[in-house]
Amino acid sequence: PLLNRIISLADIEEVAKQVLPHKAMSYYSSAADDKISFKENARAFSRFFFKARVMRPVSRCDPSTTILGFKTALPIFVCGAALAKLGHPLGEINITRGCASSQIIQMVSSNASLSYAEIAAASSPSQTLFFQLYKHKDDAIALKRIQEVEQLGYKAIFLTVDAIVPGNRETDIKSPWFLDDQENGTKVYNDGEGAADTNSGLGTAGALIVNDDRDMTWEKTIPWLRSVTKLPIVIKGIQRVEDAVLACEAGVDGILISNHGGRQLEFSFPPLETLYRLRTQHPEVFNKMEVYIDGGIRRGTDVVKAACLGAKAVGLGRPFLYAQSAYGETGVRKLISILEREIVTAMQLMGAAKIADLTPDMVERVDWNPA
Ligand code: FNR
Repeated sequence: PLLNRIISLADIEEVAKQVLPHKAMSYYSSAADDKISFKENARAFSRFFFKARVMRPVSRCDPSTTILGFKTALPIFVCGAALAKLGHPLGEINITRGCASSQIIQMVSSNASLSYAEIAAASSPSQTLFFQLYKHKDDAIALKRIQEVEQLGYKAIFLTVDAIVPGNRETDIKSPWFLDDQENGTKVYNDGEGAADTNSGLGTAGALIVNDDRDMTWEKTIPWLRSVTKLPIVIKGIQRVEDAVLACEAGVDGILISNHGGRQLEFSFPPLETLYRLRTQHPEVFNKMEVYIDGGIRRGTDVVKAACLGAKAVGLGRPFLYAQSAYGETGVRKLISILEREIVTAMQLMGAAKIADLTPDMVERVDWNPA
């Protein structure tokens, strides 16, 4: 369909389903076991209702904010997701270019299908890129990667901690592809680290998640990371309140509450519910570090709900992969413009003229779940 007929993220996903090769769609869409966490990530948003304020001036509404001090047009960012080239020949660069003109921050995956240098080279001088780190079990090899992205100008490290072993993603496993697959012209640039076990029988995730550090701890890994980089450190994959508090005590700059889009531990809590519990039980942590969530965010109202509950920003994974697969760079810009309109509409209807006007009292968790 013509792009001007596309008005929602669901529309974009529908187009992606039609154009993506079977293997690519299987990898992008897959989630663990019976996809309960994947589905609940999105359903959780329907348990939170707005309590809008009226009679507040909103003719000027500004949805911009900052993430780790870096400007962003909206409280959203691109989550690091592997292998964008499976869906489109330009891969990650579609996202980089789309984000440049829309002023959105892109987190680049350790398992990107282009080199970190190629992606950095495609960015504009004023653009912010973050880096998602899968830490190699050999500290010396991990260090090389961190130094490389630091030199390339990436502005933060998001250390992923929820994927030390691959989740059981059956759609992906049933439809394996191989890292030397010429059909897709795709390879993962981290294979210099000796990853890429295409015979694992565990699908793409099994091929990619091979040499990751399975023995990370708060006491050892965070001080090590601090000692080797000056970049801000965010822990990606926090799944409960107690670990959010430990992260705060470890002195990191932020946490991304996430269950990897339901692709890792099946029955991991929906991130929105964890955010809600953290906000209720430990409001003080929000003053000490930034808190983000990802998983199942498909509407402007989803973004606004998370912002009300204290999330500085939210990440989206699959929607950006689908958008660049369906329409390249233009699709990425379209996705962002759809979310912008939805976010601003929701904010104005709630009586919020800026992100700071969104407060916890403006949402209520209900038990008459309509989903
Ligand atoms: C991911 N995700 C991910 N996370 C990460 O830390 N490193 C990675 O390489 C990847 N790769 C990846 C590939 C694909 C195809 C998907 C869909 C996801 C997880 C990602 O960063 C994010 O947590 C989720 O995608 C968020 O959920 P939604 O927005 O996809 O529902």
